[in-house]
Amino acid sequence: MASGLLRRAISRVPAASSAARVVVFRAHASEAQAQQVEPKATSNSTPKTFQIYRWNPDSPNKPELQDYEIDLKDCGPMILDALIKIKNEIDPTLTFRRSCREGICGSCAMNIDGRNGLACLTKIPPGGPTMITPLPHMFVIKDLVVDMTNFYNQYKSIEPWLKRKSPPETPGKEILQSKEDRKKLDGMYECILCACCSTSCPSYWWNPESYLGPAALLHANRWIMDSRDEYTKERLDAINDEFKLYRCHTILNCAKACPKGLNPGMQIQNIKKLELSS
Ligand code: SF4
Ligand code: SF4
Ligand code: FES
Repeated sequence: MASGLLRRAISRVPAASSAARVVVFRAHASEAQAQQVEPKATSNSTPKTFQIYRWNPDSPNKPELQDYEIDLKDCGPMILDALIKIKNEIDPTLTFRRSCREGICGSCAMNIDGRNGLACLTKIPPGGPTMITPLPHMFVIKDLVVDMTNFYNQYKSIEPWLKRKSPPETPGKEILQSKEDRKKLDGMYECILCACCSTSCPSYWWNPESYLGPAALLHANRWIMDSRDEYTKERLDAINDEFKLYRCHTILNCAKACPKGLNPGMQIQNIKKLELSS
């Protein structure tokens, strides 16, 4: 599995070999058909190159950056639009995750020109080539798809559900919450578990298995702060650990990386304060 690490050396290849295959295929079609499928670049076209990380576990080749050129005049404005266009029109083997296309599912997280973000919410930058690689310091399954098992297990470990010791006052009815108490969950409930924060955190890079990371800790705080939850002390005790919690050094890369504008570092600070007084 270690062979899939992003940090391994990446070699660059020139033009996409699959693009060459498309050209060969079109040589069999009539000129008119070929022009219908993809009009030749004109002075109105806006060519843009994307350098995309490619690695296939079934191939002996090392990871490489593969160049793809598309016409932005014929493409939506977001990075995900470009990836879908490349996959549909140039290279169907390009592999990446996406679902909602509107910043809700969190599945299209990747590194774009050195910054973690959601492909569907990141505009294609103007100018020279844009480099797209998988989320940093994660095991790569294929191309831009990383293994999220450890990340999800850490989320599961904080028991992200309401835990009660007593039944609701009125059996069968909701457990009510004041507007003020509900407001305490703002800045946490919006998290879409995209992992942009955790995979931009240097402490998480060096201790990915023992440090819970900003996303899981933000969710831990979300349940600690929930007025309806009756396991606050147990939750605090469970993460009061040199590695699980205190690897955070408040560098705040996590806040810069979050595409939803959340600040996991601040939520971690809140947990640390509560640990002192518990
Ligand atoms: S503030 Fe903490 S969680 Fe956020 S990047 Fe820094 S060390 Fe990581
Ligand atoms: S806190 Fe932000 S960056 Fe981190 S997982 Fe949630 S939405 Fe993604
Ligand atoms: S596709 Fe769902 S967040 Fe980007």
